[in-house]
Amino acid sequence: MFRTVQAISTAHRQLEGGGFMVRRPFPSRGLATLDPLLMLDEMGPVDYGPDEAVGAPDHPHRGFETVTYLLAGEGTHADSAGHTGTLRPGDVQWMTAGAGVIHREMPSPKIQREGGRVHGFQLWVNLPRAHKMTRPRYQEIPRESIPKALSDDGLASVQVIAGDALGASAVIATHTPIVLHHWRFQPGAEVDVALAEDHNVGVYVFDGVVQVAGRDVSDGQIAVLGPGQALQLGSRGVAQALLLGGRPLREPVAWMGPFVMNTEDEIRQAMLDYQQGRMGSIPPQIVKPSP
Ligand code: CO
Repeated sequence: MFRTVQAISTAHRQLEGGGFMVRRPFPSRGLATLDPLLMLDEMGPVDYGPDEAVGAPDHPHRGFETVTYLLAGEGTHADSAGHTGTLRPGDVQWMTAGAGVIHREMPSPKIQREGGRVHGFQLWVNLPRAHKMTRPRYQEIPRESIPKALSDDGLASVQVIAGDALGASAVIATHTPIVLHHWRFQPGAEVDVALAEDHNVGVYVFDGVVQVAGRDVSDGQIAVLGPGQALQLGSRGVAQALLLGGRPLREPVAWMGPFVMNTEDEIRQAMLDYQQGRMGSIPPQIVKPSP
């Protein structure tokens, strides 16, 4: 059975971190959540001049995962577990905050110094109750290691960040079944995508217009799909979209800023643990990026 579009919602804009603009398809007035996915932010595309680029200075997370996927620019990160790294276009960082990390996510020193285009996504993936206090974990996958596949007509290509598509399987491990695809369409593309029937699934278009189950979905819109084992995607022009979703957790969500737990008590505990330094801090030998 093919999936059909249940609703189409438009992303709103807001400022995040140190003051960078994002488009946020959810949570939004039109779409609260896509359980088990909590939030999707599209950063940019923005063209920074020298000394203009801003990021997200030191902040904590607990109870879920942050997934960063960069399309343009360069990002650096550092965290309280001692991890550091640089993300380049096409790279994915899948960070399981679990019991708690403090990290910073900044444009690279080169982008801060010289400016340049920055474009990317951050997705928040909820963890089930049983895994919320798991040990923090990083999966950093360079662009060349993200599995790719091509449709039969050769006009649709996909990068498989999580889940499966067209016979390609993701290399990233997830705590519960998650699907995250980056689709690129050439004019006239048509493709059927197999999906697990029990997954909540959305398609967020960020370039051009994509036909999702026969409906036109434009740049900045997300289509939420009904149940089914397959989805028809297509395009009349050049277009790009993220297909994202997963098996719903169906657990209570208590969400306060950077903490996502099941109960208000657990949120209070997270705030206490953070304030009292139990989530650690970024080691001082890691050089602070210039503001
Ligand atoms: Co963060």
